[in-house]
Amino acid sequence: MADTFTITDNRTGKSVEVPLHDGGISSKGLRELDPNLYFYDPSYMQTAACRSTVTYIDGDAGILRYRGYPIEQLADQSTYLEVAYLLIHGELPNAAQHEKWVFDITHHTFMHENLRKRFLEGFHYDAHPMGMLVSSLAALSTFYPEAKDIENPESRNKQVLRLIAKVPTLAAACHRFSVGQPFVYPDNNLDFASNFLSMMWRIGDKYEPHPHLVRALDVLFILHADHEQNCGSTAMRVIGSSQADPYSAAAGAAAALYGPLHGGANEAVVRMLQDIGSVANVAAFIQSVKGGAGGRLMGFGHRVYKNFDPRAKIIKKMAYDVFEVTGMNPLLEIALKLEEAALSDDYFVSRKLYPNVDFYSGLIYQAMGFPLEMFTVLFAIPRMSGWLAQWLELIQDPEQKISRPRQIYVGHGERDYVPKISRG
Ligand code: ACO
Repeated sequence: MADTFTITDNRTGKSVEVPLHDGGISSKGLRELDPNLYFYDPSYMQTAACRSTVTYIDGDAGILRYRGYPIEQLADQSTYLEVAYLLIHGELPNAAQHEKWVFDITHHTFMHENLRKRFLEGFHYDAHPMGMLVSSLAALSTFYPEAKDIENPESRNKQVLRLIAKVPTLAAACHRFSVGQPFVYPDNNLDFASNFLSMMWRIGDKYEPHPHLVRALDVLFILHADHEQNCGSTAMRVIGSSQADPYSAAAGAAAALYGPLHGGANEAVVRMLQDIGSVANVAAFIQSVKGGAGGRLMGFGHRVYKNFDPRAKIIKKMAYDVFEVTGMNPLLEIALKLEEAALSDDYFVSRKLYPNVDFYSGLIYQAMGFPLEMFTVLFAIPRMSGWLAQWLELIQDPEQKISRPRQIYVGHGERDYVPKISRG
């Protein structure tokens, strides 16, 4: 059987045969048939905008792989920085490559003092840290004007190191400012996750994070590092396609992540659980979601996963390891009851709504002492490596041009201007 599709324009009787490539049908066929005809696909439900080698997801089977490696194996055996290397370079590093990569990241963690003192400290005292992060990523571009030279591989690599290395420093600085505590400089003797925790929590000289919490955070970083063409990565690619520098593109990606339907969901889940307040209220809450009055069940549902989210499985298991150190999060009981109620309710089952990565991650962050406002920032820290892997792929892909979707115009036809005095 031929691997082709035939599109026939029944108005003219003209047909084109379009080959199937890697499971996709090129829109060129339609363009050939009629250049003024477009696929109408709001929110890109059925549109592939790139060919990618970074991350593979099979939503029906609950499979997630970075560069071919199953997420379960990476979460079990790798570290976030090794995964970041894998995403950026396409292969796991050998020992020498790994040592250099960790050294380079560690030695790009400091930020320009003006960025902190003049820019970050100019925010209002109760500024949301995610708003601060989005803006400070954009502001970073003004410190590295050479980043505009996106055709230069050496410059690109430098910006990649800087962005991956500086995002935890920026994140911790946003938090310290919001609670009125002095900024803590990066410590080059610490690993990536420990350094972030130290910048968050150190008071005075001493800070020793519990090794289980360091590992849990590193695994959370691995799980959040990339997720192919989600809203944030798409923003990164769309902005990058105009040849903007990677700091500006990353600011746009972070802004996309901020929304409650995307990375903001982890914060929204905990707020929802707090509002529910007790296990006794779960049944009524489920009814209110089904009736439409209660909003959405946050942390449930996914555009791609229609069976289970493999990251949620790993996180749920890990939550118990964290709670052993921190003590139980009292909201867990409500979360478990909510999950049980939803998974046995036809409304959620028939719509294939399952817990996603955000359902349990917020409970872990909260147990570790992070304020709610920091949850999406915690997501952005590792997602930076995914955004950059997507950006690098875009920049080097000869098939990519500036992103520019078409529209179906449904507004007024031509009409004459009416002077103010004659308008009703
Ligand atoms: N609670 C209740 N109903 C839901 C939920 C939910 N969480 N999610 C989807 N539905 C319902 C919709 O109302 C719709 O019902 P209908 O067919 O009767 O109209 C149906 O399920 C399909 O929903 P869509 O919005 O079409 O699904 P889509 O793929 O566009 O949305 C999304 C995916 C945005 C994740 C959605 O499931 C949602 O809003 N979930 C809650 C927010 C959340 O947890 N976001 C984090 C996602 S993971 C991430 O970004 C890291």
